[in-house]
Amino acid sequence: MNKRKGLRVFAPATVANVAVGYDVLGFALDKPGDELVVREGSKPGLVIKSIHGNSGLSKEIHKNTAGYAAFRLMESLGYEKEAVEIELYKKMGIGTGLGSSAASAVAGVFAVNEFFGRPYSKDQLLRFATDAEQIADGSWHADNVAPSLLGSIILIRDNASMDYVKLPVPEGLRVVILYPKISVLTKKSRAILKQEISLDLHIKQSANLGAFVAALYKSDLALMSRSLTDHIIEPQRAGLIPQFAALKALAMESHALACSISGAGPSIFALTDNTVKADNVLNVWTRFMSDKAMDFDVFISKINTEGAKVF
Ligand code: HSE
Repeated sequence: MNKRKGLRVFAPATVANVAVGYDVLGFALDKPGDELVVREGSKPGLVIKSIHGNSGLSKEIHKNTAGYAAFRLMESLGYEKEAVEIELYKKMGIGTGLGSSAASAVAGVFAVNEFFGRPYSKDQLLRFATDAEQIADGSWHADNVAPSLLGSIILIRDNASMDYVKLPVPEGLRVVILYPKISVLTKKSRAILKQEISLDLHIKQSANLGAFVAALYKSDLALMSRSLTDHIIEPQRAGLIPQFAALKALAMESHALACSISGAGPSIFALTDNTVKADNVLNVWTRFMSDKAMDFDVFISKINTEGAKVF
């Protein structure tokens, strides 16, 4: 073991599903993201010393995605009796649709792996983070944890075996995020979904997912725009997000390539092919939300190709 003194890491927020890849597609943002400090503890075992950012999260290892992911890593290395303490700095709320629990899980496992001298590759950390993400919403899907850990746009070919593909990110893409300040719990947002879909919808959605992946490899943003229509999940979840249809129409009128729900919502995202159009979307959304006196946060980000990092 080649233990380091102490360090601070960053794990980014993510947009899961990306309109056409429910539970199998996600990308990382430059900001926001959770930060986590790890250092030698004063007693054997892993301790969550503090959680900053008023999240209401538990400091119990098995109820906290950062703690649980880090614990599973230590267990797998046979280091569970090592004295380690972590401090979590939550930079985003719970139930925002931006992968808050996943960012914490990634920060926890990534930081502790670095602390122990990086015994595992990032790739090998994915399973621990996904395991921990499961305690947040009760289901096994890596569409937030994988991009938060690895960066870029990730397609999970098979969640069970963690078989994933890191997809190319075309130049110039900008993401505009609108977070209406209401909380939508992922569990609830998953529970409302129908368990069966028609063959017709399957054909439309799988064609769009395939075309989206092709668009990334070809850097064909017109094809990307035509592909990013969600025929299955967005129509079922749109009602959870006040004014979703109006906000989407405003983004598309401002020449966004696409607009849909980020993860389980309530955040929504728009993709644009340059910063001017991203600014336009940001401005129309800001005016609309302010006119309606709705509380919100809006920002522009690039797609983060690096993922979790030490800083
Ligand atoms: N794919 C997940 C969902 C992301 O849409 O429920 C949220 O964690």
